[in-house]
Amino acid sequence: MKQTIDALPLTKAIADVLTALGVKADNPAYSTGLTWGGQEGRTRKEIFSPADGNFIAAVTMATAEDYDLVVKQAQEAFKVWRKMPAPKRGEIVRQIGNKLREHKEALGKLVSYEMGKILQEGLGEVQEMIDICDFAVGLSRQLHGLTMHSERPEHRMYEQYHPLGIVGVISAFNFPVAVWSWNAMLAAVCGDVVLWKPSEKTPLTAIACQHILREVLLENELPEGVFNLVIGDAEIGSLMAHDTRIPLVSATGSTRMGKKVGEAVGARLGKSLLELGGNNAIIITEHADIEMALRAVVFGAVGTCGQRCTSTRRLIVHEQVYDQVKERLLKIYPSLPIGHPLSDTTLVGPLIDKDAVQAFQAALEAVQQEGGKVLIGGEVLSGDAYATGTYVKPAIVEAQNDYHMVQEETFAPILYLIRYTGDVENAIELQNGVRQGLSSAIFSTNLLQTEAFLSHWGSDCGIANVNIGTSGAEIGGAFGGEKETGGGRESGSDAWKVYMRRQTNTINFGKQLPLAQGIKFDIMD
Ligand code: UN1
Repeated sequence: MKQTIDALPLTKAIADVLTALGVKADNPAYSTGLTWGGQEGRTRKEIFSPADGNFIAAVTMATAEDYDLVVKQAQEAFKVWRKMPAPKRGEIVRQIGNKLREHKEALGKLVSYEMGKILQEGLGEVQEMIDICDFAVGLSRQLHGLTMHSERPEHRMYEQYHPLGIVGVISAFNFPVAVWSWNAMLAAVCGDVVLWKPSEKTPLTAIACQHILREVLLENELPEGVFNLVIGDAEIGSLMAHDTRIPLVSATGSTRMGKKVGEAVGARLGKSLLELGGNNAIIITEHADIEMALRAVVFGAVGTCGQRCTSTRRLIVHEQVYDQVKERLLKIYPSLPIGHPLSDTTLVGPLIDKDAVQAFQAALEAVQQEGGKVLIGGEVLSGDAYATGTYVKPAIVEAQNDYHMVQEETFAPILYLIRYTGDVENAIELQNGVRQGLSSAIFSTNLLQTEAFLSHWGSDCGIANVNIGTSGAEIGGAFGGEKETGGGRESGSDAWKVYMRRQTNTINFGKQLPLAQGIKFDIMD
């Protein structure tokens, strides 16, 4: 396995990236226009790369008072931003997209180094941001409602969409910037202002983005509070969830976190958009193109080191092709290059931290106690190149769908291999037989099977793919899932509607005041 870590002057390269993005090492965290770093009584969090354990920068965590200042700033900015015509807001987002294009490489490297995903995926993540900017620009001229015929003469009815106010975005470490951008860019063209709490594990990419956006706002003489950033711990997330000044909270992360956010927002009758755990399966039927399926399975299972919400966690294989699939996977897995995420030869980077490694090992331990058989992988790598202790060998485990561990989302590269017999409906039942409902896929060249999978008695997930894996969705479709995944939809299609409030308008252009439903209510005088 080729390792080129030593060849990379990483600390200097990353220092250059941070400088190019306007982020200095040891920089305080920013909200737009507000700097709270260096002030008394604030905690500083040091960020180390999961790739090589090097210190990257220290970030000052926001306090509840800092948070309050930022919310007030956002409220002020909203008064200006909402009055700007939507296509003009789109023009600002177009400029943001262009700036992201300029910084794609630097930002991609930073995503990769801070989060640990391989550079190709880091660049892909920035591309996802650019794509959503383009999408939002077009959308800024299409925020349309319906018109409908009134039952009353000389009356007109229509509906329009208005901005909500502050949209709170809580994002996860695994997609440190893309998922925020799905929310932020749509919210922005809708006329909302955004308050972002990134994962405390990946604050630097967030700070870098904040710099890029701030530049665009200042160049256009717009208030900085259109896009706001607060770096803090779960306490800040909880403040957001309870804050009636934030009409919509969009949260990405574990089901456990999402339940807390959903409950707090629900208790104040606010709106929440939840994108939570997945337990995604690929079905391989006896009619599948096996080689094509294998490529999708491996990308889905080991890509991002199994840390996507769309990662493939279960492989449900027909008994006729089960041994063939298993054999091929056992050949492919040992040759997967595991190593430094910035090295071009690497396909599998590290897990985010030692806690994730522990969860990986604990899951493997637990599933074996239930009867699961680890076919390959599961080791934590050691040696100079892996000194962080965050590099693991992706595992394949033969298991049953109803095992407790198989029912859970473990955010690590574990692929459960499950055999099915008989009809495709048996496979679909297994695929649906978990609490989560994000992404699903079938590999088959048989129309009857693929259509059954897509039918309303087929996959119960928010995403159902045919001859494509579970991960790597495009931004153009609505993204999200059912059941414990939380029900939210973000990104493409008509997901923008959640960032706006709908208003129904009835206009009378006659000289009478007829009432609906034919009600007579004549006032005699
Ligand atoms: C996530 O893991 O939270 O579909 C988002 C995908 C990516 C987004 C994943 N476009 O895998």
